[in-house]
Parts: sequence; structure tokens; C-alpha cells
Amino acid sequence: MTTTHTILITGGAGFIGSHLVRLLVHKYPGYRIVNLDALTYAGNLANLADIEAAPNYSFERGDITQQAYMQELFRKYNFDGVIHLAAESHVDRSITNPLEFVETNVLGTVNLLNVAKEAWKDQPAGKRFYHVSTDEVYGSLGEEGFFTEDTPYDPRSPYSASKASSDHFVRAYFHTYRLPVVISNCSNNYGPYQFPEKLIPLMINNIRENRPLPVYGDGKYTRDWLWVKDHAAAIDLIYHQGKTGETYNIGGNNEWKNIDLVHKLCDIMDDLLGRPAGTSRQLITFVRDRPGHDRRYAIDASKIRNELGWEPSIKFEEGFRQTAQWYLDNADWLQGVLSGAYREYYAKQYF
Ligand code: NAD
Ligand code: DAU
Repeated sequence: MTTTHTILITGGAGFIGSHLVRLLVHKYPGYRIVNLDALTYAGNLANLADIEAAPNYSFERGDITQQAYMQELFRKYNFDGVIHLAAESHVDRSITNPLEFVETNVLGTVNLLNVAKEAWKDQPAGKRFYHVSTDEVYGSLGEEGFFTEDTPYDPRSPYSASKASSDHFVRAYFHTYRLPVVISNCSNNYGPYQFPEKLIPLMINNIRENRPLPVYGDGKYTRDWLWVKDHAAAIDLIYHQGKTGETYNIGGNNEWKNIDLVHKLCDIMDDLLGRPAGTSRQLITFVRDRPGHDRRYAIDASKIRNELGWEPSIKFEEGFRQTAQWYLDNADWLQGVLSGAYREYYAKQYF
């Protein structure tokens, strides 16, 4: 089949990136989908084993911060668009090692912007630079209210500060150089292939292994959870139909206090594992809080709903059960990522 459009996806071997790559490879057989990933601890080609031989898919191992390498990649593929997900993504790691987040999330993004600007300067028509970002750039909400696209930025962790900085650079390239950009800011994702440093897979794995369930602080911090495949569908829509220069918020309209979420997970896991009801709740342990912990995130997703017709497709209970079942059915995948490095990280984080 002739290739009609070539997209560079950065960070395609990570959690969200792998769902996006899979969606685009299946949905657009006439496109070439190029996945560029450095394969850090969070990148895993096993996430894409089912599509690695697809004729419209290519994998390139490389680092977005490397200018000459990225220039060569643009020459090789002549990309029509970029969907940029590569990042350091875990808040707790950003607290221990902020510079790594500046390196990848800020310098890596600016390097990519420069390379795209240079590569597209003679033929800008029809190009698109899509930057995938987070709701954490807006800071922390009280009991009421929602983040809209106009909420002022107020990042509070090194991770969110690095993402906010990268968002600002993307907008600056739009205004200064007319680079055809679009940005989305999404709430917490959950689903298969998420690295078990994040709340949901960490809890599922610990329940499975009968280990303590570490809940930070008073457990009343609130997050708005979205099924990862709904995020991938929103990215597809925004890439193809979003307006250049615009920002779209994406959220699940699905707020949970952490402790309620952990209770729910315990109950689902007891059911799936055939344990007596209430068994896993006994593993819950309140631990020291995350420094600067944002109290509540909640997204107003009316812009993407009204302008592009996007909605979350499944209810949390269903997505949550499917997720728990997936981790149980894919114990090999889980075992593969629970390496010595993971155990070392875990021991330091939860001493
Ligand atoms: P992830 O940590 O699972 O994956 C990140 C990927 O980027 C990995 O495959 C890693 O190998 C790759 N990577 C890291 N540094 C790189 C570099 N220098 N060069 C090339 N590749 C590199 O992250 P995720 O949860 O899938 O998040 C993807 C993007 O979506 C991030 O930009 C994140 O900020 C954003 N986001 C995540 C969520 C969420 O809930 N997980 C929500 C909103 C936005
Ligand atoms: O909102 C979008 C963001 O969501 C993304 O940009 C980030 O990449 C992603 O990691 C996520 O950030 P959070 O910090 O919200 O996710 P995390 O899974 O780390 O934590 C969710 C909540 O659970 C948070 O309030 C902290 C709490 N928590 C987390 C862990 C790992 C615990 O109570 N115990 C834990 O062990």
C-alpha cells in the first residue's frame, strides 16, 4: 500500500504511547507510523509485540535530546506530523531527580521543536506538531471547580513544572515561528501496560503479592481517571481535527479520592482472586505524604466534547475491572518489568 502520511510518535513504547501507536497502526493502514523511543526504564517493546511486524510500523531507538540524531531521523522519513509523548512522567521520581525531568521534558521538547521547525521550513503546509501534556500544569484545586483551557498555569512539582515549561515553549514556537502546533492536557490515565510505579498498577500488583498498599497522607487526594484507550482516541481526533494553535483539555469526568479508589480495587481483586471479601483492604497502610502533593485535579472537557464530539467510552467500574483482569492475565508482562531496578526504586521510595 502507498504511504499517504508519515507520523513520528515519540515515547511510543511507553504506557499511553503504545496504545496510541496500536490505534493508529490499525486504523490507518496507508500511514507510516514511526515510533521513536529511548527505551528508558518506562519504555518497553513488549507493549507493542502484537503490532511489531505490521507493514506500516517502524521502531527507532533514540533520544529526543540528541540534535544530530533527530535531524537525521527527519531526513530519513520526511515526517508530515509529530505526536510528542516522550517524557519522564512520574511525579515521585521528579522529586528525587528534577534535572532528569528538565533534560528530557524541557530540553528534549525544545530540541524536537527546533528540528521540526528546520525540517519543515520550506514546506510548512499540512504539517502538525502535537504536544501531549498533562492537567498537572494547572496546579491544585480545592473541593470545587474544574480546570479549563484558560486556567492559569501553577505547577507545583518538578514534573509539572517541566511539563508546563515544555507547553510554554510549544506555544512560543507557534507565535514566534508559526510552527503549526496543537496541545492537549489530560487527566490521570489507567489501563493495561502502565508501569507499576503509578497508583493503580502498583496497588494491583501489591494486592496480588499480598504486600502493604501504601496510601500517601490522609488518602483524600482526588484524581480524575480516564481509560487510556479513550485518551488515545482523543489524541487521534485532535491530531486530525483540532485547530492549529489551540489547546484541548481531556478528562474522564470521573473523580475518585485515592482511598475510595484503593478500596474499590481491593474489592474487585478479592472477587477476581477468589479471596474472602475484605481480605485485601487489610493491606492498606497510610504512609508519609508526597511533598507538595496536589490535592485535587478535575478537568472540564466541554471544549473537546462540543468542538470535536469526543466522550469517554466506558464507565470506570468496567474499565477498572478490565484493567485488574489484564494485569492478572499478563503476569509475564508484569514479571518482566518488576526488575531489580524496580525493586531498588521501590525500596527507596517506600522505606
Ligand atoms: P511513560 O513514562 O509510560 O512513557 C514515556 C516514554 O517516553 C517511555 O517509553 C520512555 O522510554 C520514553 N522516553 C523517555 N525519555 C526519552 C527520551 N529522551 N527520548 C525518547 N524517548 C524517551 O509515560 P506515559 O504515562 O505514557 O505518558 C506519556 C506522555 O503523556 C507524557 O508526556 C506525559 O507527561 C503525558 N501524560 C501522561 C498522563 C498519565 O496519566 N500517564 C496523563 C496526561 C499526560
Ligand atoms: O494528572 C495526570 C498525571 O497523572 C500525569 O501527568 C502523570 O504522568 C501521571 O503519573 C499521573 O500523576 P499522579 O501523580 O496523579 O499519579 P500517581 O499514580 O503517581 O498518583 C496518583 C495519586 O495516588 C496521587 O494522589 C498520589 C497517590 N499515590 C500514588 C502512589 C504511587 C499513593 O497514595 N500511593 C502511591 O504509592
